[in-house]
Amino acid sequence: MHPRLRALHALRLSDPDDKVAATRALAAQAATAPIADAAWCEAVRTPGDDAGVPGRPERPTRVPAKDVPTRSPFTDEGRAALIHSICHIEFNAINLALDACWRYEGMPAAYYRDWLRVAGEEACHFTLIHAHLQGMGWRYGDFPGHDGLWTMCEKTKDDVVARMALVPRTLEARGLDATPLIQAKLRRVGTPDAQAACALLDIILRDEIGHVAVGNHWYAWLCEREGLDPLAHYRRLYRRHEAPRLRPPFNLDARSQAGFSAAELKALAEPAPAA
Ligand SMILES: [Fe+2]
Ligand SMILES: [Fe+2]
Repeated sequence: MHPRLRALHALRLSDPDDKVAATRALAAQAATAPIADAAWCEAVRTPGDDAGVPGRPERPTRVPAKDVPTRSPFTDEGRAALIHSICHIEFNAINLALDACWRYEGMPAAYYRDWLRVAGEEACHFTLIHAHLQGMGWRYGDFPGHDGLWTMCEKTKDDVVARMALVPRTLEARGLDATPLIQAKLRRVGTPDAQAACALLDIILRDEIGHVAVGNHWYAWLCEREGLDPLAHYRRLYRRHEAPRLRPPFNLDARSQAGFSAAELKALAEPAPAA
């Protein structure tokens, strides 16, 4: 089967373990027996083929972000809810990466390879965090989850430039800012499970810098191809799709490692990002 159609197959799977297994198998196969450039670039889309996208389990129940209760991480249940929210992000992140690989025609083979590699890493993150959650006595689906990540995928489904701008470069980049804050909170809790979670977040942060870098690379490539000014176009897309507000403190070190330019880092200090 065409590798991007295999990505679609994994994207449609609703059982998390099945999705993880299919994604990891596809990413591993593509890495060890590289798929020819022409195969990646062949057109695969057909009318109505986004039926059943994305596959996701019935639980967690999906609620607006504002309705996700905040609980104290100093209680076992509150900490489990926090880990569950990360697990939910990682599950969604598998879908985001598979979708970026499958959905958009006309990109270079390296683009599809990048997103498949990212999907494999997200599957790995989900596995690590879910195992940790299970060690705490809970499972994925035991708490509600918000739908912000997939909502932005829907909004940008017809525009790969907007997708790169607003999913990896905005939503995943917000993860770079949030991770050190979560780690600081977990360090204050200081229990063995909180310390173990901190170590897992170190792995995730390292990989996520790479994912944002992939977004930055392809956003810049697309802007160049289409003669767009990256900063001005980002502002337009941010407003058009009502992207969530970027809030300080920003992890400037991680953002800079992920390839944001000095001008982009400076723009973060401007209001909302500079309408
Ligand atoms: Fe991740
Ligand atoms: Fe990611």
